[in-house]
Amino acid sequence: AAKGLLSGLRVLISAGPTREPIDPVRFIGNRSSGKMGYALAAAARNAGADVTLVSGPVALDAPAGVETVRVETAAEMHAAVMARTGGVDIYIGTAAVADYTPARVADAKIKKHGEQLELTLHRTPDILQAVAALPDKPFIVGFAAETGEVETYARAKLEAKGADLVAANEVGSGAPGGFERDENALFVCWRGGECHLPLADKTEIARRLIRLIAERYYADNTD
Ligand code: PMT
Repeated sequence: AAKGLLSGLRVLISAGPTREPIDPVRFIGNRSSGKMGYALAAAARNAGADVTLVSGPVALDAPAGVETVRVETAAEMHAAVMARTGGVDIYIGTAAVADYTPARVADAKIKKHGEQLELTLHRTPDILQAVAALPDKPFIVGFAAETGEVETYARAKLEAKGADLVAANEVGSGAPGGFERDENALFVCWRGGECHLPLADKTEIARRLIRLIAERYYADNTD
């Protein structure tokens, strides 16, 4: 049923974690597996879109028929996304981008000494906000990973980030979906409404979310 829903449209998706190097052998990372973003890339492709996927380091194969660009750090992801926004109709930010990165990367492996080690971290660029600030901005889908009060934070993110739609998942040890899991459940909101996508395989959740995104995209882009 979703076939052809996005035909003629260009979709840019970020997925996976970023890795922020501390020294040549260590990094700050997170638990994103890339499963949600890769499933969305495949679902958008199946809906007829021309899809580009910018991915942090994950163990997944590039989806067939999707231009996949691999990056490592938040800065690299920012640059790779911004270089590919031309002509994009829909941007979906599923990546779990590090909010902070080490102020400097040690040239050599940091040696063990003393009882305490302090790292200074600097803020990374917010990719979603940068895409939303483009003069010819695409339809923006943000994700929110929250450990509680999912609906409140999702609504706040819609406004704060200049997104057109936010998909929020409850994450953390008790949650059935989110990071690493094969399944996910989403609370989705936009300016005029909201809905719940109940727990299902990420492939199925991606199909449903793409259908919802297409609906909202056309609601905003037809006169
Ligand atoms: O990869 P999986 O294992 O399948 O897990 C999927 C997921 C849980 C990672 C995914 O569904 C998800 O929720 N992704 C967003 C995770 C997150 O880090 O959310 P956040 O609240 O920190 O960021 C909010 C939004 O801003 C996201 O769209 C994020 O891509 C974007 N962002 C954040 C920071 C930054 N510097 N740049 C950004 O663009």
